[in-house]
Amino acid sequence: MIILDGKKTSNDIKEEIAIEVAELLSSGKKRPHLAAILVGNDGASETYVNAKVKACEKAGLQSTLVRFEDKVSEEELLAAIEQINQDVSIDGLIVQLPLPKHIDEMKVTESIFPEKDVDGFHPSNIGKMTLNLPTFLPATPAGIIELLTRYNVETSGKHCVVIGRSHIVGSPMSILMARNCDPGNCTVTLTHSRTQNLKAITKTADILIVALGKAEFVNADMVKEGVCVIDVGISRVKSDKTKSGWKLLGDVAFDDVKDKCAYITPVPGGVGPMTIAMLLKNTLLAAKSKS
Ligand code: GUN
Repeated sequence: MIILDGKKTSNDIKEEIAIEVAELLSSGKKRPHLAAILVGNDGASETYVNAKVKACEKAGLQSTLVRFEDKVSEEELLAAIEQINQDVSIDGLIVQLPLPKHIDEMKVTESIFPEKDVDGFHPSNIGKMTLNLPTFLPATPAGIIELLTRYNVETSGKHCVVIGRSHIVGSPMSILMARNCDPGNCTVTLTHSRTQNLKAITKTADILIVALGKAEFVNADMVKEGVCVIDVGISRVKSDKTKSGWKLLGDVAFDDVKDKCAYITPVPGGVGPMTIAMLLKNTLLAAKSKS
């Protein structure tokens, strides 16, 4: 069993980005600049955005964090996005999701200039991804593709089962794995809350990508020998064994499943750090494609 080490791989990528940033600067170009908008005080969102800002620093990117209170109006948020759209000093913009219920997430996503949409969530960028045209790939699916690439996991002709059809992970992941690309060329089954006989399907997976947000949902009984398991889940659960009183669990019962796997991502230290590294890579790409 091989652990797909997202922590190490993401550090390698951040070092590669830092070298490219240094090259840009020495050729007289400006430092790539990411703006992140965070609405409200959701603990998980705050942790993610802080990690993104810190990673920018580490890789030599400039970052600007714009914060709004929970009760910010949709108009106010859209106005801030428009200001960043027009700001030539900013290369990439993300709005951390989820947003409060009174704000239309799709309207917000569509208001970001596609050329600054380094999350790759804008419908025009999703369309380009689907058509295999150059674009920003959503960071979590892109991070998974990068892990499969760097660990030489064979995907061509394999059966890839994705659990979860979110716009951020499951849906784009299923599209990427089916593309005529390497990694890709899988026969893909996208499963979700209405899927019947899920276990019968997951048991046939050569590659199982789990992104439904339920701690330790996948157990050894649901997978076949030699599977490659990618765990996107991250749930914070109470624990009396840690100093903080909390521990992080994936959507896969790691200890139960690991001995049946050819490859598996741990939680934490698997897909999570890769997501951030790919966001930085997209920001670098946005900066380079302007110059
Ligand atoms: N919320 C959960 N994942 C993401 C992500 O990749 N980008 C943004 N903007 N929000 C998220």
